[in-house]
Amino acid sequence: MTLPASPIGVFDSGIGGLSVLQALRHELPHERFVYLADSGNAPYGDARGDAFVQQRARAIARHLREQYQIKVLVIACNTATAAAVDMLRAEMPDLPLIGVEPAIKPASLSSQTGHVGVIGTRGTVSSARFARLVAEHGERVHFHAQACDGLAKAIEESTERPVPEDPMATEVAELCARYVAALGDFGQKTGEMDTLVLGCTHYLFAREQLRTLLGPDIQFIDTGAPVARQTRRVLGRLGALADESETPPTPDSQMQLMTTGSLQALQAAAWRWLELPARCCSAIQVGEASTTAA
Ligand code: DGL
Repeated sequence: MTLPASPIGVFDSGIGGLSVLQALRHELPHERFVYLADSGNAPYGDARGDAFVQQRARAIARHLREQYQIKVLVIACNTATAAAVDMLRAEMPDLPLIGVEPAIKPASLSSQTGHVGVIGTRGTVSSARFARLVAEHGERVHFHAQACDGLAKAIEESTERPVPEDPMATEVAELCARYVAALGDFGQKTGEMDTLVLGCTHYLFAREQLRTLLGPDIQFIDTGAPVARQTRRVLGRLGALADESETPPTPDSQMQLMTTGSLQALQAAAWRWLELPARCCSAIQVGEASTTAA
């Protein structure tokens, strides 16, 4: 049964989905959220493969459902959406699901030069779903896609270190520079890419480095806000929105964050990106722990 007072479940391979949680909290301040970072098994998108990601998505969806009676599940991960959303829909038809996909359509509508760069994980940009999306919206626009091996992992690891004095002297910046260069020329002239789609939820946390590399005129498009609005629509349709006439909950009762990896890393990320206190975070195990390195 879907109850307005039940929490919204959100998961990602790690801390990347916190960028979606930020947008959800902004759009739905009266809701409560249960967030699961599968950091013990991250990254999903470099070399894990669909079968592994599907197995993790299934275990996490079951866990959030059974332990927290979530009323909707937001898959805040492009890679997991590409690999597992159809499977989850088939296996759990009564659990409302919202996936995250690279913002190909909005980019196709807003690019002036008709050339758009897309960065994502290897799992996302080589998926059949991504190919379909590009085929649907690629008539007027040329999409240049780049798989960014190692970038989500570097972002994940960077959260455990102190905030760098120079964000450009980091592995995250180095990888961003490499992949942006591989995409080709950005700018406003004919044939140049004027738009960059952030096709992985982790990459929003490399925005500063990407902005420094590309300058102020390139448009970045991510999916946090549209996904949050879609979540509102789905809950509205189900009559499952929390009571918005009440005072919004405090962070402590609104947010429960869990990780299958390092608790310190989640606490640092939760504070840095959402200003949430460490006590909102805990470490858990869901399903089998990972034994192979990605
Ligand atoms: N944040 C994830 C995404 O949006 C995946 C990162 C990873 O684990 O490879 O695709």
